[in-house]
Amino acid sequence: MTEDTLIQAAPQNVGEMTDADAVGTVGSPDCGDMVRLWIKYKDRDGQKVIDKASFQSFGCQTAIAVANLATQMILGKTREEALTMDATELSKPLGPLPPMKIHCGQMVEGALKAALEAEATAKTAPPVATISPPASSTLHDALANAGKQVGKIKITMLKPETAS
Ligand code: FES
Repeated sequence: MTEDTLIQAAPQNVGEMTDADAVGTVGSPDCGDMVRLWIKYKDRDGQKVIDKASFQSFGCQTAIAVANLATQMILGKTREEALTMDATELSKPLGPLPPMKIHCGQMVEGALKAALEAEATAKTAPPVATISPPASSTLHDALANAGKQVGKIKITMLKPETAS
């Protein structure tokens, strides 16, 4: 997939994925916005790769655009390959982001990494410890659970940027 074909007028992968293997949610203390990202894996020649991804964003257009790109760029990648992708790579098809929008891409990177790490944690967690939060979790509920692992969902708050 070329960078041109990744950029579309409307986001393609918006919405909750009910059969996801992992979910990551990250909030930005800089602007108070959030991104939640779902991942579904499949087996390809004995290797587990990302088959589907979707997102919801309580954020600006930049966060929506980067999250949409991320859900396309990670397809076919292994968990380890996807973990190497940072905000710069995920937002590259958009061109350089203005300084005040860099944290928007970092929030998407954080949600992706939280989902990838939540999946790894969920694999090793005892099944009786798995608690599925209601599908209709609100932003308030998500923030109240920040920093906790709840079933497949891990919510991470990014550190505030420090003025230099
Ligand atoms: Fe909050 Fe972009 S995500 S300003």
